[in-house]
Amino acid sequence: DWSMANFVDEQVELIRELVGDKKVLCALSGGVDSSVVAALIHRAIGDQLTCMFIDHGLLRKDEAEGVMETFSGDFDMNMIKIDAQERFLSKLKGVSDPEEKRKIIGNEFIYLFEEEAGKLTDMDYLAQGTLYTDIIESGTDTAQTIKSHHNVGGLPEDMKFDLIEPLNTLFKDEVRKLGTELGVPDEIVWRQPFPGPGLGIRVLGEVTEEKLEIVRESDAILRDEIKKAGLDREIWQYFTALPDMRSVGVMGDARTYDYTVGIRAVTSIDGMTSDWARIPYDVLEKISTRIVNEVKHVNRVVYDITSKPPATIEWE
Ligand code: XMP
Repeated sequence: DWSMANFVDEQVELIRELVGDKKVLCALSGGVDSSVVAALIHRAIGDQLTCMFIDHGLLRKDEAEGVMETFSGDFDMNMIKIDAQERFLSKLKGVSDPEEKRKIIGNEFIYLFEEEAGKLTDMDYLAQGTLYTDIIESGTDTAQTIKSHHNVGGLPEDMKFDLIEPLNTLFKDEVRKLGTELGVPDEIVWRQPFPGPGLGIRVLGEVTEEKLEIVRESDAILRDEIKKAGLDREIWQYFTALPDMRSVGVMGDARTYDYTVGIRAVTSIDGMTSDWARIPYDVLEKISTRIVNEVKHVNRVVYDITSKPPATIEWE
């Protein structure tokens, strides 16, 4: 008679037994897996858990504030927030190659986490939101390499901590159920996939604060309208990207020469293949109108109508 409530009780007991009076650190990204693992461990040991949240400045609009409100506020967890926007931006200065950007963001994330975790001398355990599927996927060395490269959340293995991975028997849909059982809000439990390098790979080419602002604002409008149209659970992933180009437009009686925003919205099962979402024209029109009216330096909006393959979901 297996239910999520039983799973919670069982895990709470196991975690308490394992941890005793020691302390646990959790790297919280605001994604589904790390949020649910934090909520579960918090349920078991309360104040003995500390979560570290690194804001690399490549998150979506209001995301960092939302994570802090939920976990520091509603859950009353011990939270350490690391503001590293400038550090990441300066590392990315002058870099335009997508894989190079990924590498820089991923490495910097690990260095920073190690640095900050090293300051916490009283932590014994590190909690991670590893799922059953992650274990299967990293069954071979090659897969491990691909994954650690792909996932910014992947942390070094040679740290002083012992690992706690209470989700490692679960699939994604079970993790969502568990999250709901633990009172994790729907915005997090049903959050669309978001890449580790974040908006760093949605600003095409060199990342600047001005361009990040355009992606953040246009993406917020897109998400708002998709939600209002009731399409947020139907579309697998939806976001805006900023190509490294400008084009001519006209506003009032003046010529403009400004940026083009690309909208990407796809249906998919697992991200391996995808189709472009058939968003109704009137919803697209509203999104386009709002973006050019509300986001500075944008005078054109295009909709990506390629499937994967041959395109990828992200533009970089
Ligand atoms: P692509 O663009 O390869 O994306 O069709 C497939 C899925 O993977 C996500 N993605 C990433 N996730 N780090 C991540 O953690 C990355 O570097 C990365 N690149 C792509 C993408 O958002 C989509 O869900």
